[in-house]
Amino acid sequence: MSETIIIDTDPGQDDAVAILLAVAACEQLALACVTTVAGNVPVAQTTANALRVLDLAGRADIPVYRGAERPLIVALETAEFVCGPDGLDGSGLPPPSREADAGHAVDAIIRRLRAAADGLTLCPLGPLTNLALAFRLAPDILPKIRRIVLMGGAIGLGNITPAAEFNMHVDPHAAAIVFDCGRPIIMMGLGVTLKAIATHEQIAGFATLGTAAGRSIHGMLTRPRPGSLGTVGHPMHDPCVIAYLLWPELFSGRDCHVAIATEDGPMRGRTTIDWNGRLKRPANAHVIAEVEAHELFERVTRLIATLP
Ligand code: BDR
Ligand code: CA
Repeated sequence: MSETIIIDTDPGQDDAVAILLAVAACEQLALACVTTVAGNVPVAQTTANALRVLDLAGRADIPVYRGAERPLIVALETAEFVCGPDGLDGSGLPPPSREADAGHAVDAIIRRLRAAADGLTLCPLGPLTNLALAFRLAPDILPKIRRIVLMGGAIGLGNITPAAEFNMHVDPHAAAIVFDCGRPIIMMGLGVTLKAIATHEQIAGFATLGTAAGRSIHGMLTRPRPGSLGTVGHPMHDPCVIAYLLWPELFSGRDCHVAIATEDGPMRGRTTIDWNGRLKRPANAHVIAEVEAHELFERVTRLIATLP
């Protein structure tokens, strides 16, 4: 039986690969809709990018709803210095063929959860603003959430600041609401995603698929990345979320308590992960720390090969 998911996203190259992977896995995952949020670039652009990626996948039938323009409290910080001016540098994608669907992403999340008899899985790949707004506006939807598999946080060092990972840093107040929501959370932080590195051979393999999706992914993963942190190869943060839904056996982690620092200053957005249970607080997330990266990208490539 397939798992119905909503992807909440701020594409972003790695978000784009995650969306393509979810579409390619349509026998295991039913992608109900894509909701967008400001993050890597402003929300008008993340929305256009989600539409462009679904065009590439030949799935212009999947609804896209535009969401929050800025974090709950702090000012928006974007990451064009990493993703390029339109967020999808290297993709070679044309403008979208359609507009976003009518209505706000937060309303779409609420409506879809209320209507889902068996519940839904939420897959946030950006700042958690839309989810936090939905949970505050309509707490009745919480029992309908089967699980939240998210990209964000870090066991150790951050990326956007020494202390914080980008998605948590951009909207720490939203992250605190989501981690406090009481539903099962699987956290894909930098502790695992910086180990999910495709080899040069595997990246080259996307180009040899002979498909538009393969060429676009190859372009995104091989573009110059002046703002990157010197990682070897290309980390695939957001695709880990979808990969976990498909192949949980490739990942391992631990139930932990995760606290989000919301105060302004150098610690903002830091995820303090009580890996060893020192605080004796109940776990609020399953924190993933390890991945079998080579096997992961072999499987990702096989699925992406099924796209146009
Ligand atoms: C996260 O930040 C974004 O730039 C990426 O798309 C990913 O979701 C990694 O820190
Ligand atoms: Ca993202």
